[in-house]
Amino acid sequence: MAVLKIRKNPDPILRKKAKKVTNIDVSVQRIIDNMIETLDKASGVGLAANQVGVPLRIVIIHIPDKDVIVLINPEIIEKTGERLVVEGCLSVPGYQAEVKRSESVRVKARDRQGKLFRKKATDLLAQAFEHEIDHLNGILYIDYLQDMDKLEKTDYAPD
Ligand code: CO
Repeated sequence: MAVLKIRKNPDPILRKKAKKVTNIDVSVQRIIDNMIETLDKASGVGLAANQVGVPLRIVIIHIPDKDVIVLINPEIIEKTGERLVVEGCLSVPGYQAEVKRSESVRVKARDRQGKLFRKKATDLLAQAFEHEIDHLNGILYIDYLQDMDKLEKTDYAPD
């Protein structure tokens, strides 16, 4: 396994729509393993493959004290409610801002064995699903800010 370099805004790969995974082969398994290691090293909650330079629809979510969730070709199939949350991103290190996210979401995805699953989430997990699936579509949370003055500096800045 290897720790991969996390691409930072304004790297153009962050703005490209990632492609569907058509074959969950050994190279995809290796990307997943490396993404898990990279996410844990960065102490992040979620990572999308395009953040490590791989333009495929793969997301890893690891909420502290919970199991790692691997999502291949994830889709949000339902969302309800709205709430304000503070959000940061490994590709925009050193900043955070308040954005609107859903209260709950339901996602559909394949796991690393290729098995289709659905999962309903609230709170941080729902936020992570929305944030990471946005990444796969070339969207960063800062896109939702009316102006960049809304960005606050944080002490947290990996690298
Ligand atoms: Co992010």
